[in-house]
This record gives sequence, structure tokens and C-alpha cells, in this order.
Amino acid sequence: MANKIVYLNGEYLPLNEAKVSVLDRGFLFGDGVYEVIPAYSGKLFLFQEHLDRLNNSLKLIQLPILYNKQEWLDILTPLLTDNRAQYIYLQITRGVVEKRDHAFPDEIQPTIFAMCSAIAEFSNRDKGVKAITLDDTRWELCNIKATTLLANILLRQKAVEQDCTEAILIKNNTVTEGAASNVFAVINGVLTTPPNNNEILPGITRQLIIKLAKENQIPVKEQVITLNELKTASEIWLTSSTREILPVVELDKNPVGIGHPGPIWQTMHDLFQQVKKHPYER
Ligand code: PDD
Repeated sequence: MANKIVYLNGEYLPLNEAKVSVLDRGFLFGDGVYEVIPAYSGKLFLFQEHLDRLNNSLKLIQLPILYNKQEWLDILTPLLTDNRAQYIYLQITRGVVEKRDHAFPDEIQPTIFAMCSAIAEFSNRDKGVKAITLDDTRWELCNIKATTLLANILLRQKAVEQDCTEAILIKNNTVTEGAASNVFAVINGVLTTPPNNNEILPGITRQLIIKLAKENQIPVKEQVITLNELKTASEIWLTSSTREILPVVELDKNPVGIGHPGPIWQTMHDLFQQVKKHPYER
């Protein structure tokens, strides 16, 4: 797949021929936004939800809304190569400028790049993963899905160096989210996740899990989780479009619950697999 076909500014071309100027503001400043959209059986999953979030990110960084739903589907669907689990990475930057200047240029031609990659099967899902807690060192606009991810990268790397899959981020003694995931915890039998605000990305997987919980009489709350509540939770999960729902069985070297993926995770994982086969349409 080294030379797969990708999309760049209106053209489909081999990956090694897709080139962007060094004066692109994405390269100079990380001045752009992105989406990661999964696809199952050759169909983009929860596409409207991803598009709504993309349009919100564009609005928040003052870029225009570029295409409608059908136009995006026409652009992105040809990139899907087969029926296996895949995802589209879609990135939009503020485009190429004549000289480096922090302020926006007068004329903007956004750079649009999209490519398709396989979603790797997560081999240890049933065994669960390890996580550490770290101070959330990010900025105050985490609701924007910005390509500017240096803080997230440094935090994830710290977790990996400690043989952990994810860093769970703590701000003012409460949980925000993972370095590249949302967090759920089962606290006194209630599935709990921090509320959407500027401190977290409004995850599409998170949104689906809340909906599935409500439809299946699993008690669920969008509520602040303190560090202490996280440490004593009977289950902890990490959720994202590429990793689905990952149970955390060890937090800061201590077992979570009984040290195995919990029963509510198993129920939600099964519900999620069913929705992948028969997705909701909006
Ligand atoms: N990241 N929070 C952060 C900071 C994320 O980067 C992600 C996903 C999520 C989960 O959102 P969703 O369920 O919509 O994927 C939450 C993607 C997968 C990435 O950056 O590759």
C-alpha cells in the first residue's frame, strides 16, 4: 500500500506524488483541522456526525465550509479500497502563503488532503490495556479537532515509554480525556463520562456509546469524574474511531476493578459490533 491513491486539492494521485508546499500553513503553524472517519463494509460510518464536527472545527478556526455532504461523499468514497475496516484521514489547512506571518492571509485557498488506511485489529482488546494518568498540558480549545497535536503526542509518548497504551489526562483533579481518546468509567454502577466542553474533543464514538447505553437501559451520566473516582472505578474504557472501545485493566500500575475487562464493557462492545453491521442513518 506504499503507493496507494490519495486525494489532494481536487486530484487523485499516488501517495508518493502527493506534494504540498513548505509554505503551507499546515506545515508552518499546524494551522488546520482534521477528521478520522471509519468505514465498515465499504461504507463511511456515522458520516453525518463526523461532517458536523468537521464543519464546527472549520467554523472555530474561521475557515469556510467547503462542501456539502454529497460532495464530500463523492470525494471520499472512491478512496475506500475494499470491505475491510478502514478509515479516512481528512485534513484541511489554511493553505499556502507567500510569506510566513501568524495573521491570516487576505486570500485563502485551503489545502485539502485525504487518504484511506486499514484499521488494525486490536489484538489485546479482550485482555484489556494499561494506562497512566498525566497532567493535561494542552490548550483551552480541545473541542477543535486541530492538527496542532504536539502536546497530545508528547503525552502519548510518555505513556508508551511506560509500556502503556494511553495517557488519561487530568486537569484540576478531574479527568478530561485520553491523549487520543475519550474516557468512560463505571462509578457505583453508573457509566460516566466527562461532559462535552472546551476541554475535550466531542468524540463520535463517545456520542454513540451514550446513545446505545440509553437505548439499552444501561445507566449513563455525562458528569465530571474526579481523579479519586477514576482510581476506584470498577471499569475504565477508552474510546475512539480507530480503537473502538478499549477496556483499561491497569491504571498507574494498579488493577482496575478485578483486573479484567468488566461486564458492562462486554455488553457495550457487543452492542457496538452490532451497530457496525447495521449502522444508524442520519
Ligand atoms: N482521535 N479525543 C481526542 C483527543 C482524540 O484525538 C480522539 C480521536 C478522540 C475520540 O474521538 P472519535 O471517537 O470521534 O474518534 C477523543 C483520532 C482517532 C486520531 O487523532 O487519530
